[in-house]
Amino acid sequence: MCGIVCYAGRQNAAPILLEGLKRLEYRGYDSAGIAILDSDQKTAHVVKSVGKVAELEKKLNLRELPGTCGIAHTRWATHGKPTEENAHPHTDCTGDLMLIHNGIIENFAELKDELIEKGHNFRSETDTEVLAHLVEEYLKGMDEPDLPEAVRKALGRVSGTFGIAVLHRNIPNKIVVARRGSPLIIGVGQDEFLAASDINAFIRHTNKVIYLNDDEMAILNSNNITITDLNLNKIDRELETVDWEVFENEKKGYKHFMLKEIFEQPETVENAIRGRIIESEGISKLGGLDPVLNRLKNLQRMVFISCGTSYYAGLYAKYLFEILTDLDVNVDFASEFRYRNLRIDENTCVVAISQSGETADTLAALRESRRKGALTLGLVNVVGSTISKETDAGIYNHAGPEIGVASTKIFVSQCTILALMALLVGRSHHLSINEGIRIIQELKKIPDYIKEVLKQNEAIRELASQFLNYHDFLFLGRNLNYPIAMEGALKLKEISYVHAEGYPAGEMKHGPISLIDSHFPTVAIATQDYSYEKMINNIQEIKARSGRILAIATKGDNSLSTIVDDVIYVPRTVEVLQPIVNVIPLQLFAYHVADLKGRDVDKPRNLAKSVTVE
Ligand code: G6P
Repeated sequence: MCGIVCYAGRQNAAPILLEGLKRLEYRGYDSAGIAILDSDQKTAHVVKSVGKVAELEKKLNLRELPGTCGIAHTRWATHGKPTEENAHPHTDCTGDLMLIHNGIIENFAELKDELIEKGHNFRSETDTEVLAHLVEEYLKGMDEPDLPEAVRKALGRVSGTFGIAVLHRNIPNKIVVARRGSPLIIGVGQDEFLAASDINAFIRHTNKVIYLNDDEMAILNSNNITITDLNLNKIDRELETVDWEVFENEKKGYKHFMLKEIFEQPETVENAIRGRIIESEGISKLGGLDPVLNRLKNLQRMVFISCGTSYYAGLYAKYLFEILTDLDVNVDFASEFRYRNLRIDENTCVVAISQSGETADTLAALRESRRKGALTLGLVNVVGSTISKETDAGIYNHAGPEIGVASTKIFVSQCTILALMALLVGRSHHLSINEGIRIIQELKKIPDYIKEVLKQNEAIRELASQFLNYHDFLFLGRNLNYPIAMEGALKLKEISYVHAEGYPAGEMKHGPISLIDSHFPTVAIATQDYSYEKMINNIQEIKARSGRILAIATKGDNSLSTIVDDVIYVPRTVEVLQPIVNVIPLQLFAYHVADLKGRDVDKPRNLAKSVTVE
């Protein structure tokens, strides 16, 4: 989704900003823009383009952009189509003020009317442009232009969410940034300051950072930085050192980041469990949860909240926790949860699951849970993200950056860590040591099981090539594998643009069965567990209606191949962990269908990696 990068220092800003924008590309966007201030010449350059950052780069003559202070943006359209006019930076009537914005200004329509009445000229359809004119309006009334003060006044008028950065041609070497509900991190280098909505934009320059909180501002120039609240009262803030891998813009020989990330999964699981298991006691040790262990022991309810792929990890957790713990367990889409009257109190633990740690709906649901007194935990990949900071305690995935918009390795990491959490809670309640040991022993083998599936990559590609002409798919699974069916369908639809529906297999005969014919294939997760016989019944029902079936089956289950059309075999593990293995062939299947169709696998249309608007 939208991305912000800013630079104030002694080097030429344009190349640094362009590099930053490229590092934000993975988040998904549809246009980009940059504004550079050349303080010596008192000139400002604003360049924008629709499409990729490479298009913007073509338009820039870097040698003609000598300024050492600038702001840059990638836009994911909300208000107004992806056009050059709607791309950021937006300027005021004079063109002297330049502003970029992430988030949504909810009262922009009334502010726009008011500003038009005062004679302001609008050039875009965006909510953001209102902010540029509003700051201009407040600057107009000042004897000496005071940018932070004008920004403060403007922000006092808006409702909604914002991460903004503002520059002015007549106010040299100064960038004012502010946030509410949209991330902003300041990078502190040698004689230079950077600011970005995502640490990946500048981590190559510095890992010394200051996290801006909601309702805070920062005023940066090459010599110093001042942090204030939105009333310009100074705030002291510690510099933090971040332990975050620089992601290489390299695919290491893989055609796409998504494929690279699928192949990284054995290592992802190893990283998720490293140092986190005590095998002899059949329990996990999650350092991040130490401060809340007592509260975990007295829990009555768990609720998992998340969005997208992270939601399906939460759905898996619901089944898992019901098996391994004695708690009431619920799961909800974060966007639904926050408006429901659920029973949430101090005996409830709400777990926010989020790769980015910035998803607006998950954050809003988390804040609602805190208000109601719940113990809040985060399962987050991005270190220092807002969710990781706003929870009572939490666990990091330690999975490194995920670049493909469609999540793969983080899903597997989330499921692995949720299994560790379930063991911790279960063993503090009623789960036996033997059961705990059995699960841990199998957890340690999961990387090898995944490797075994990955060896079938070529065969799965060949299989995928036979499915390119279908327009619809049904994915079926039961119980613990129902979330995996949902995730398999989501993977396929988001990157190949083919319609796919996930369903609990037992529900198939209550609706979707009417769709089945020879043109509507089904992917059935039919690994051997207690629901296997029932799954076979569903498969027979589909075959009786000429539906083509691709089954995910347990290695050695030779009988299934006589019923279904195609089979991918996976190694067998304990039932509670089997879904982690079963999702791998579905990721590969979706990847190959999308790639063979020539889709932009890593950056599927309309999608964003980090969704920071509600
Ligand atoms: C977007 C991404 C998904 C992701 C979801 C939740 O829709 O495209 O891949 O699963 O957001 O993101 P989160 O960062 O909260 O896990």
